[in-house]
Amino acid sequence: MTLNFIIMFICLFIPSMMLLSFGILTLLQNFFSAPYVPSSAKKLAAALEELGLPQAGRFIDLGSGDGGITLMAAKYFHQSSGVEINPYLWLFSNLRRLFHPKRKNIHFICKSFFRMKFHDYDVMYIYLFPELMAKLEDKLFAELPKGSTIISHTFKFPNHQPERTINKHYHIYSTK
Ligand SMILES: C[S@@+](CC[C@H](N)C(=O)[O-])C[C@H]1O[C@@H](n2cnc3c(N)ncnc32)[C@H](O)[C@@H]1O
Repeated sequence: MTLNFIIMFICLFIPSMMLLSFGILTLLQNFFSAPYVPSSAKKLAAALEELGLPQAGRFIDLGSGDGGITLMAAKYFHQSSGVEINPYLWLFSNLRRLFHPKRKNIHFICKSFFRMKFHDYDVMYIYLFPELMAKLEDKLFAELPKGSTIISHTFKFPNHQPERTINKHYHIYSTK
């Protein structure tokens, strides 16, 4: 009887609490940060084909959500990383990574991108609201190596002009 109760507790209570805290965290993010809204890996792949960036590039998705973009980018770059503040999305991304043939070249980091340095990346993907773009602009252009590419989905940086725009949605910036 007691054992049944403990098993039921573990099977029902813990997953329910995890779901509830995921919901609360996601809700809070909608108010205080960029909400989780995935973008299309297929459309970004088409833009990457058009850009034809070197395979030796080190890619990072800022706010990598469910990891779909980072996993797709492993096809185009030697190293593909994602940084995500939401631990549940980070965990889910890592689970997906286990089934990827190039998993050794894929990394998911669980922290705020404001606490990271970007010297080791040369291709960056961003799908974040304009307020965050404005906050990140100086940091990114100062830290990314010269000649790096930033691909921003939908939103533009306030003080830099994109070099080109692909398929109306992908604004391409280059660091000088
Ligand atoms: C609009 S979603 C984009 C997800 C993914 N890049 C895509 O295109 O499918 C933005 C993501 O940024 C994450 N995020 C917001 N603020 C962050 C921060 N300070 N550090 C790391 N990730 C953050 C959110 O949790 C969310 O998953």
